[in-house]
Amino acid sequence: MSYKKARLLIVDDEPSVLDILSHRLGREGYRCTTSPGGEDALKKLARYRFHLVLCDIRMPGKSGMELLKEIQVTYPDTGVIMVTAVADVQTAIKAMKMGAYDYIIKPFDLNMVVVSIDRALDKRRLILENRNYQLHLENEVEKQIGKVREGFLDAVKSLAYALEAKDEYTIGHSQRVTDIAVAIAQELCISEEDIERVRLAGLLHDIGKIGVRDSVLNKSGRLTDEEYQHIIAHCQLGEHILSPIIKDEEILKMIRYHHERYDGNGYPDRLWGAPQSGSEGIPQGARILAVADAYDAMTSDRPYRRAVSPEAACAELERCKGTQFDPLVIDALVRVIKRRESPSVYDASLISSSNQMGAS
Ligand SMILES: [Fe+2]
Repeated sequence: MSYKKARLLIVDDEPSVLDILSHRLGREGYRCTTSPGGEDALKKLARYRFHLVLCDIRMPGKSGMELLKEIQVTYPDTGVIMVTAVADVQTAIKAMKMGAYDYIIKPFDLNMVVVSIDRALDKRRLILENRNYQLHLENEVEKQIGKVREGFLDAVKSLAYALEAKDEYTIGHSQRVTDIAVAIAQELCISEEDIERVRLAGLLHDIGKIGVRDSVLNKSGRLTDEEYQHIIAHCQLGEHILSPIIKDEEILKMIRYHHERYDGNGYPDRLWGAPQSGSEGIPQGARILAVADAYDAMTSDRPYRRAVSPEAACAELERCKGTQFDPLVIDALVRVIKRRESPSVYDASLISSSNQMGAS
């Protein structure tokens, strides 16, 4: 393969070597620049892009080995061929181990120099093509992961819509619970990964209601014992419905336990408190969802009662701190709501996030 347009930098402290090489290689069609030493070579490398450097090993000032190291760090796309005297072959081999493409021994046969340069340019091309291919593959994998994730989130939304189609009072509820739960989770500084879990569990927390009879789901009067047992089963049912598509145990637990109470009087498993050694406890995400769920239920109109104000809802939730709800989660909710209700005292980003919430 011909690389006659390749740009070469020839570095040598002997002017006669520079002359011979640049003259011959110029005749071959290479675009040659010469440099009398390492420092000058670095200046030229900073100004122009070279495909290949022919580098003398022994030079006053910066040695060829030092120059090789700097080129590899700063200009990794530039190949290097070492030029050396017979006495320096061991150093040249060391340079090859460090990543130089080849070495040429002085006095050299100019035809062999051309062969070596072409071979080095070939190697450089393969390395760059390989790296680009690798980058292309990584981008493709990244894109595919994005598509799979998008498809998964769309499937999650479809499930949430399916529930809304069955129960008109849940329209918007899952999204509002998610928004509040994520804000609480951020207030509690939990990890990004756990915030994403809360987001998914929020959208799907009531999905088990798909399996609840309409006559029970929409009943406005008092529920019989059997009806009550039927409706509270939506927690386990939700976990069961989602288990084939959600393999993350933490998310499934948040859905199963979103009606557990902090004092242990909730359902379905009467867990209490936070997980500690010796007791399973209610996962943090489920404790967050319980508060967000209750807050949205209170601040939304229902057929049997009007919505209460955010302040009144917070006051009622604070009354249940430590019994029904985790005190730390309630405190976080109160801070979030106060910021949203009085944005003037906070910065512009909080004002904008509050406005988005109001629109949801
Ligand atoms: Fe629920």
